[in-house]
Amino acid sequence: MSADDQKRISGEAAAQLVEPGMVVGLGTGSTAAWFVKALAARKLDIRGVPTSEATANLARDLGIPLTALDDVKSIDLTVDGADEVGPGLSLIKGGGAALLREKLVWEASKRCVVIADAAKKVDHLGKFPLPIEVVRFGHVHTGHRLADIAAEFDLLPPRLRMAERGVVVTDGGNVIYDLPSGVIAEPAALAAALKTVTGVVDHGLFLDLADEALLGTDQGVVKLVP
Ligand code: 5RP
Repeated sequence: MSADDQKRISGEAAAQLVEPGMVVGLGTGSTAAWFVKALAARKLDIRGVPTSEATANLARDLGIPLTALDDVKSIDLTVDGADEVGPGLSLIKGGGAALLREKLVWEASKRCVVIADAAKKVDHLGKFPLPIEVVRFGHVHTGHRLADIAAEFDLLPPRLRMAERGVVVTDGGNVIYDLPSGVIAEPAALAAALKTVTGVVDHGLFLDLADEALLGTDQGVVKLVP
């Protein structure tokens, strides 16, 4: 089975968790897109809270009614992809530059389900460069401070994320620095250290947030719990 088929079956399985009347957090990325498509096909009476402009556009095109995070008290269920699924369902997210809105939506959710293809499951977080969202003003200086923190954790300096058209700018108008590492030995300590830097809006370490994972594998969808 291709990675995309694994993403599809995990997204389709997650769509079955949605019940009528729910407020549903809609993740970002290619796996989350499969979820949004499968959810739209069910034509349930739900409201979606999108985690990015891209997901909002997709959901709108498919006829899913949307609402804003601030217009709901809480979210019943959020389904989203991940770049890495590590021990205890610790995650790296933000490959699609949507980590800030994703984390805000996850933290407002009663239940968070991560969906992914089998290759995303890892023994240690860190092979995927850790995305860090940084305000644009003075971001080069913030990047230097991030490099200092990286050195304290035996990690390489972060790199400003670029695309063909230039610097990647997030939906919130910020930039992304990616921290290449190899192994993040102390994710919680690194997460705390990154949050001390003025200019850092948030980072892609999602720790103690996922309630379950639905992993698409060649043998079908496998459920993991922390
Ligand atoms: C976006 C994310 C995505 O969920 C993550 O990058 C996984 O993407 P994909 O499902 O395309 O592999 O965190 O910010």
